[in-house]
Amino acid sequence: MCGIFGYIGKRDALPFIVEGLKKLEYRGYDSAGVATLKDARLFLQKCQGKIADLERLLLRKPIDGNIGIGHTRWATHGKPSDENSHPHSDCSEKIAVVHNGIIENYLHLRRELAERGHRFSSVTDTEVIAHLIEEELNIKGTDLEHAVSRALKKLHGSFALAILYEGEKDKIVVARRGSPLIVGVAENETFVSSDIPAILKYTSRVIYLKDNEIAIITQDDISLKNLDGDTVKKEISFISWDPESAEKGGYTHFMLKEIHEQPKAIRDTIKDRIKLDSCQVHFDELNLTEEEIRNINRVVFTACGTSWHAGLAGEYIMEKFVNIPTEVEYAAEFRYRNPIIDENTLVIAITQSGETADTLGAVLEAKSQNAKVISICNVVGSSIARDSHGVIYTCAGPEIGVASTKAFTTQLAVIYLLCLHMGQVRGIINRNEAEEMIKELMAIPQKIEDLLQSEDEVAQIAEKYFHANNALFLGRGKGFPIALEGALKLKEISYIHAEGYPAAEMKHGPIALIDKNMPVVVLALLGRRYEKILGNIEEVNARGGNVIAIATKGDNEIKEKAQDVIYIPPTSSDLSTILAVIPLQLFAYYIAVKRGCHVDQPRNLAKSVTVE
Ligand code: AGP
Repeated sequence: MCGIFGYIGKRDALPFIVEGLKKLEYRGYDSAGVATLKDARLFLQKCQGKIADLERLLLRKPIDGNIGIGHTRWATHGKPSDENSHPHSDCSEKIAVVHNGIIENYLHLRRELAERGHRFSSVTDTEVIAHLIEEELNIKGTDLEHAVSRALKKLHGSFALAILYEGEKDKIVVARRGSPLIVGVAENETFVSSDIPAILKYTSRVIYLKDNEIAIITQDDISLKNLDGDTVKKEISFISWDPESAEKGGYTHFMLKEIHEQPKAIRDTIKDRIKLDSCQVHFDELNLTEEEIRNINRVVFTACGTSWHAGLAGEYIMEKFVNIPTEVEYAAEFRYRNPIIDENTLVIAITQSGETADTLGAVLEAKSQNAKVISICNVVGSSIARDSHGVIYTCAGPEIGVASTKAFTTQLAVIYLLCLHMGQVRGIINRNEAEEMIKELMAIPQKIEDLLQSEDEVAQIAEKYFHANNALFLGRGKGFPIALEGALKLKEISYIHAEGYPAAEMKHGPIALIDKNMPVVVLALLGRRYEKILGNIEEVNARGGNVIAIATKGDNEIKEKAQDVIYIPPTSSDLSTILAVIPLQLFAYYIAVKRGCHVDQPRNLAKSVTVE
């Protein structure tokens, strides 16, 4: 997510802004910038890269003033670049705007503004806001507060904004809709931030802006209004967090925060891609024509780690809904195997970071063989997005914890939508089926929220098994990729040796491992393989193993078979993978915490493996 920080007070604004942006670095970003007001003049510096790059720029081109705003950008529209960095300005360069969120109608507004003579210096949605405010200010008698209110009424989408204007040198105007913005109230100083961590050092007294509210902040006053100009009551809250925990939104670890962010991450990933009236799916940058989709005769998912598990789950969905032979390849194997692919092969690279060396190598190999290559990625403008013919972004926001959670479930959601789209294009999915699939997918975020209510039960079960040295995860069908993912989560953050296996394969070897010290997690969801899975559970029980079953809510039979049961809400079997992985993420998390492991940065691991 982008980060916003603002300061108004008696002291020089810049040190506060740079310090505040550093406190927001955890949100992930690719560029940064600042703007200040001094002697009724606006000064602005910004660049692609890290805050350290911005500091070097400011050493060469210093700016000062006791009023200022700053921004760290997580690219959503337009690749990371100096021009696309915030703050953005208008034609007169008298206005500076920093923004967190997505303006959904920006292309329409941009076209209208350009027709009225406005010149744009970036491809971002944000820059549109500066020009809209400029237009309103050109209307005689309009002040910044009213210009901002009128401009914001034209925006569809989400925003947290901080705005400076040379013509009103003593104030910052801020506003929000859908993206958080907090005003920190100190003695003779006021701070503005996207998130609490950046202001906790200065004050614990904050005002949370509500949707469609603006705040006009001067040296001596903070006034809150709605977009119609009506005064809104100021409610000052007291923050009890310590600064360290605040960066995690009050969660102990980023991983736990990101597990809980999954409902929002999935909503953000699917909401702009589904046309409910037509039951059609649209991807902005897929770059695959309907004819190309119809000509595809083979699909290859390629990825590493957790992303590879998403591909393995995707294989079932792709073959079911698109009826194309599909395989899943480890990127490092695929790239050196001289794969037999051609222009009718669709290679789908899956990667959270977009920088995994092996996956990048696989993409280059696929392109050298003329395959169509699309990537599913969580980082706008990342290397893989540039190297692929098309890209579908997961909108999970920055994933800080090394163990991937929300990126994985949003990858599954994207694959489901992609298969729905391809199945419709190839005439395999009809309108009624599409409607049902979309309905099921849109119900998933709420089901995850319901599921997260059982977090304490999972934590209690984890308490019973944190001493284990080995663990086995079993699943059948789509449960198998989730068994693999559960095993990877446990091993990478708790260092317990864990293996995922197809449940039927257990009798071909791993069953020799079963004893009372071996917890066995089994994906035992109701469905056509359920009876077979019960048989596997009996085999484990007969050898003194301890079974932890992930089961469908309402299934009482499983209670007689398993030592522990974690229930998930019923959903279509095609989406059960998204729900079934949540308790496994929590199971691994609580065991790792109990074992005193460094959950967010496990030993030997990196968030993005940019080396072969
Ligand atoms: C996931 O929990 C691991 N941290 C790791 O397996 C990861 O999925 C893998 O390195 C691939 O990363 P990517 O998705 O950024 O390409």
